[in-house]
Amino acid sequence: MAAQESSTLPSLSLPDGATVPRLGLGTWRMGERKTSAAREAQALMLGVDLGMTLVDTAEMYGDGGAEEVVARAIAARRDSVFVVSKVYPHNAGRKTAISACERSLKRLKTDRLDLYLLHWRGRIPLAETVDAFEQLRRDGKILRWGVSNFDTRDMSELFALPEGQRCAANQVLYHLGERGIEWDLLPWMRERHVPTMAYSPLGQGSLLRDPKLSAIAKRLAATPAQVALAWLMRSPDIVAIPESADPEHIRSNRVAASLRLDRATLGALDAAFPPPTAATPLAII
Ligand SMILES: NC(=O)c1ccc[n+]([C@@H]2O[C@H](COP(=O)([O-])OP(=O)(O)OC[C@H]3O[C@@H](n4cnc5c(N)ncnc54)[C@H](OP(=O)(O)O)[C@@H]3O)[C@@H](O)[C@H]2O)c1
Repeated sequence: MAAQESSTLPSLSLPDGATVPRLGLGTWRMGERKTSAAREAQALMLGVDLGMTLVDTAEMYGDGGAEEVVARAIAARRDSVFVVSKVYPHNAGRKTAISACERSLKRLKTDRLDLYLLHWRGRIPLAETVDAFEQLRRDGKILRWGVSNFDTRDMSELFALPEGQRCAANQVLYHLGERGIEWDLLPWMRERHVPTMAYSPLGQGSLLRDPKLSAIAKRLAATPAQVALAWLMRSPDIVAIPESADPEHIRSNRVAASLRLDRATLGALDAAFPPPTAATPLAII
């Protein structure tokens, strides 16, 4: 059960057959200050070198600054990185999504996104966004598209649209302390083979200060972050995207991929962080 280095990260297949590692890299707080950009890019490069080749960003993060940091990190290794970016809901119209994507591509210094997500649902009709995403896909500017912060009702609405079922993933808040999606969204997505991307998998760091998690981690000779990530990675259809600009944290998070949680540990985690017993509105940050 002890955490050990392992050479390959577990991966999952997207609906179109592309493979992605189940542990990636977040970038929300990156690109906000020019003075930190080099360190942040170095951190992402380290993560990619360690096999965490899925990088999640968005036009929103650092007002485009995070995408510029990602550009620095992937410049010499674009083909080995799976780049995810997101469009603001107010930019998700039939024409505006095309120009937003082109701006993202420019900042990322690449010719295509591996996955483009609608960041959250806004006022623009979903059908328009899907049309724009499909246009971008036909033009080769994105290889596939998905959504973020969609609850079960949003997903049902999406799937009822022509081509709505091309959705390759839904990125939602999911970690030990926030298990609401297990009630209905996760089963709904599983039934339709739509992978889940778990954002804020460490509860933005606050989960790591939970004494119950620390006690369980101590028993496993692991860190709270490793247990939180290993818990998410227990499911074959979940990609966790922790963010860190600290090389030690990145190395340590990578080790979580080889931490196996036995039934007793999973039971202890369920007791400390109970699964939902009723439907709750989708939690969003
Ligand atoms: N779709 C959406 O609406 C949405 C919303 C939120 C987030 N996201 C995505 O999900 C990513 C991750 O979520 P997040 O950034 O909110 O939170 P998170 O990954 O849960 O937590 C990040 C925090 O944890 C710290 N950390 C990371 N590894 C650690 C370790 N091993 N030990 C101790 N501390 C550690 C980081 O600090 P250090 O830098 O010091 O390591 C940072 O403060 C984001 O970057 C973004 O890409 C998407």
